[in-house]
Amino acid sequence: MKKRVTKAIFPVAGMGTRFLPATKSVPKEIMTLVDRPLIQYAIDEARAAGIKEFIFVTSRGKSALEDYFDNAPELENTLRKKGKTELLEELKNTNMDSGAIAYIRQHKALGLGHAVWCARRLVHNEPFAVILPDDVIAAEKPCLQQMVEAHEETGGCMVAAMEVPEDKASAYGVIDIKEDMGSCVSVKGLVEKPPADEAPSNLAVIGRYILTPKVMQNLNKIKTGSGGEIQLTDAIDAELREGRDVFGYRFRGQRFDCGSKAGFLQATVAFGLARNDLHVEFDSYLRELMSMRQAAQ
Ligand code: G1P
Repeated sequence: MKKRVTKAIFPVAGMGTRFLPATKSVPKEIMTLVDRPLIQYAIDEARAAGIKEFIFVTSRGKSALEDYFDNAPELENTLRKKGKTELLEELKNTNMDSGAIAYIRQHKALGLGHAVWCARRLVHNEPFAVILPDDVIAAEKPCLQQMVEAHEETGGCMVAAMEVPEDKASAYGVIDIKEDMGSCVSVKGLVEKPPADEAPSNLAVIGRYILTPKVMQNLNKIKTGSGGEIQLTDAIDAELREGRDVFGYRFRGQRFDCGSKAGFLQATVAFGLARNDLHVEFDSYLRELMSMRQAAQ
């Protein structure tokens, strides 16, 4: 019987230099989309997919992240006394079960593959998910849940996949497709950030993975790759060299690259518009803004 995926690794050790000076004192993952930190979207998605153990790979300067996941009894009491029940519920939904979160530190910034490998002792011999919180995915059924369901059929390793413009492929891990089955593709090879003219396709890896423990073993041996870093993509590609299956899964949903300023702003607009409590005011503001811009042209 296939083992259920109940553990997820969240690599959150990056310094977030693209968002300086904000990230001088606030971890990137705490930056807010509307009123929720980026990491909360990742946690909610993991929970929806049945994840029970949350492993954060952190680094220096990330203690605000640990504080965020602590219960806040003083705050809860104040809200209770003031009768702010909706906010109280909202706050309680962010509480995590005792012992459900583990933090492990990546002592050197040696790449995504290395960050994942730092969690090897917590994963044991089970399949596990990896979620990159920078990739925020708005979807009716959360992306990881879609993948867990597809993975029950396929087994092996699975990466989230999305077509990107050809001239953007070299910013991603790129899939060399063996067989295209529609929402699922079987993979022949994976290349991390290929030079523009060498990308095997424009099907890019997006930051959701379901991996077998073998990938951790591959990470033990893998040499530095693209950018002089230890790449997760290379450790998954190594599975193919050993004759094991890797699949790409074209998820249904819209992905925002919240690791970039433009992507973060786009997500802010999209999530703001999607909120019942903000829609009317925000929508009319955006329309006004657009018509003023058009009039000025
Ligand atoms: C990472 C992965 C890359 C993937 C991307 C998705 O790259 O290494 O394979 O395509 O996330 O967001 P990064 O954007 O962290 O450089």
